[in-house]
Amino acid sequence: MTYARITGTGGHLPDKVLTNHDLERMVDTSDDWIRERTGISKRHIAVDGETTCDLAEQASRRALEAAGRTADEIDLVIVATTTPDQIFPSTACLLQQRLGIHGCAAFDIQAVCTGFVYALGVADKFVRTGSASCVLVVGAETLSRIVDWTDRSTCVLFGDGAGAVVLEASEEPGIISAHLHADGDYESLLRVPGGVSKGYDLVQEGGAYMEMKGNEVFKMAVTTLGRIVDETLEANGLEKSDIDWLIPHQANIRIINATARKLRMSTERVVVTVGEHGNTSAASVPLALDQAVRDGRVKRGETILMEAFGGGFTWGSVLLKY
Ligand code: COA
Repeated sequence: MTYARITGTGGHLPDKVLTNHDLERMVDTSDDWIRERTGISKRHIAVDGETTCDLAEQASRRALEAAGRTADEIDLVIVATTTPDQIFPSTACLLQQRLGIHGCAAFDIQAVCTGFVYALGVADKFVRTGSASCVLVVGAETLSRIVDWTDRSTCVLFGDGAGAVVLEASEEPGIISAHLHADGDYESLLRVPGGVSKGYDLVQEGGAYMEMKGNEVFKMAVTTLGRIVDETLEANGLEKSDIDWLIPHQANIRIINATARKLRMSTERVVVTVGEHGNTSAASVPLALDQAVRDGRVKRGETILMEAFGGGFTWGSVLLKY
């Protein structure tokens, strides 16, 4: 049996840091409020001209180096992003060009904060069926471009960054299972209403920015992530105690803690980056994985549960042996 196994990870954050104290000077908020309600103290923001592909490129180069692979060995590129550099080509194609990869399939996945989990699930299918053997899977965002910096209820939450993994065919597991879901009925709770087909008039009227009913999203996220944990364990006949690491989407420390409680996991077994990164959407899970791999917390053979929830709504999980 062929599995898809992560052989290298990489991450990249823009140099520019925006602290809660910086935000106090921009909107009516306070460091105390942001920390208490979200766990966030700072986030990284791309400067003008710094794009999603720039961040993706740095994270990808690090992942390739960690895997001991060269770009020409990659036979599929998937980029999860909600903030592509341009309408087309896809960010995956732009990244392919940057890395000097030619000819293999390359495409973007748009599942907002669940994007990387979706991308990993899709890449797993390619590898298991023999359609690809060395895949570059990236989550990269410049969320700051779709944040309304005058709206205190959203602007304190988000940040920019990129994370990447190299996923290779292996006799050893590998990704054990991926569980992907969506329900478009919840569009009005979390969205950027403007866009290409609806026209740019809406964008000019303020529709280019994120709109969120935070409280309702919060409640849905907690209950839905609880369900996805049960679904993943049940599908694999596992107990909560079989999970070594929870690598959750980094939206809010209170949502993360609720999922950890559900798994009866101690906080030392949960990788948390939200305090320093904010919510980087599709980049948050691979950035957290990369951090925990590089600082030696996550070790080969350990069982990881990744989960995410985001606009759509979309939600999902990936269970894997690292
Ligand atoms: N600073 C200070 N006060 C703020 C604020 C800010 N940045 N943002 C909102 N407030 C105020 C509100 O105006 C409200 O004031 P009121 O009671 O006078 O009306 C009060 O704080 C409480 O607002 P509420 O929205 O109920 O707070 P909350 O506890 O739900 O926290 C979020 C708000 C956004 C932090 C929380 O709902 C959340 O994290 N939601 C999920 C967001 C998310 O993860 N989205 C992405 C999913 S991938």
